[in-house]
Amino acid sequence: MKNLFDLTGKVAIVSGASSGIGVQFAKVLASQGANLVILARRYEKLVEVAKDIESEYEVKVLPIKCDVTVEKEVIAAVDKTIEVFGKIDISMNNAGVVDAVPVHMLEEEAWDKVINADVKSVFLMSKHVLKHMLNAKYGRIINTASMLGAGGSANIPTHSYNAAKAAVINLTRGMAASYAKHGITVNAIGPSLFYSEMTANTLFKEPILSYYNNTCPMGRPGNPGELDGAVLYFASDASSYTTGQTLFVDGGWTAV
Ligand SMILES: NC(=O)c1ccc[n+]([C@@H]2O[C@H](COP(=O)([O-])OP(=O)(O)OC[C@H]3O[C@@H](n4cnc5c(N)ncnc54)[C@H](OP(=O)(O)O)[C@@H]3O)[C@@H](O)[C@H]2O)c1
Repeated sequence: MKNLFDLTGKVAIVSGASSGIGVQFAKVLASQGANLVILARRYEKLVEVAKDIESEYEVKVLPIKCDVTVEKEVIAAVDKTIEVFGKIDISMNNAGVVDAVPVHMLEEEAWDKVINADVKSVFLMSKHVLKHMLNAKYGRIINTASMLGAGGSANIPTHSYNAAKAAVINLTRGMAASYAKHGITVNAIGPSLFYSEMTANTLFKEPILSYYNNTCPMGRPGNPGELDGAVLYFASDASSYTTGQTLFVDGGWTAV
């Protein structure tokens, strides 16, 4: 039987691939044969990730320093991708930040930082990859949302993040509807709690960690690799008739 998840010859851009979930996303795409462009602000970290992936898989990985909240940097990164690889099949809009501060204590600047990094980034990346995907009549856009985009919790006061990730989920639906007839699917992955630089000092610590473990049906955070199946599903032809969806990979947290 044909490998439904084969990505040989595909070109994928992964933003936020200097640490955490984005590194794993890049690895799993490479494991199925995709060449990669990896984006983040910390270039040295991207270079390490690129070397690591190229040593393990027979793919090319191009690291590009890019602040995905700045349109001219996004344009430059997309242009470079086209110059080097000639096309963009998959865009994983994954870069993001969190802030566990409730609204009544939240500074305007902190609000803007989260909204820009988590939502404006998805808009800018989508806008500029779509030009190429529309010409090619093919594309897979995959946005990183969150369980915290599906609801709120008094025990996890991440109000700017709740707003940002809910916007990502509905932007995913809107774009999916508009581009479905152009061979482009737009889906999102909604992780719950995974250890990363972002969560180490925010969500993956007490008291939120115990609250999460006590309320998550599986009773534990996600382990590295537990998002791999969702990524490959949305990136490959396995999901050819799926668009506008957010797949929560959350041990059942949003089911209860
Ligand atoms: N870990 C979880 O439990 C969890 C759960 C749900 C959703 N998520 C989402 O997963 C994504 C990755 O987070 P993570 O947990 O893996 O955290 P992480 O290790 O802190 O990774 C965040 C990544 O985003 C990049 N980034 C942040 N702002 C950026 C900007 N303005 N321009 C370019 N790159 C930027 C960072 O790179 P630089 O600092 O080098 O720029 C880094 O590579 C985020 O969207 C996050 O909201 C995570």
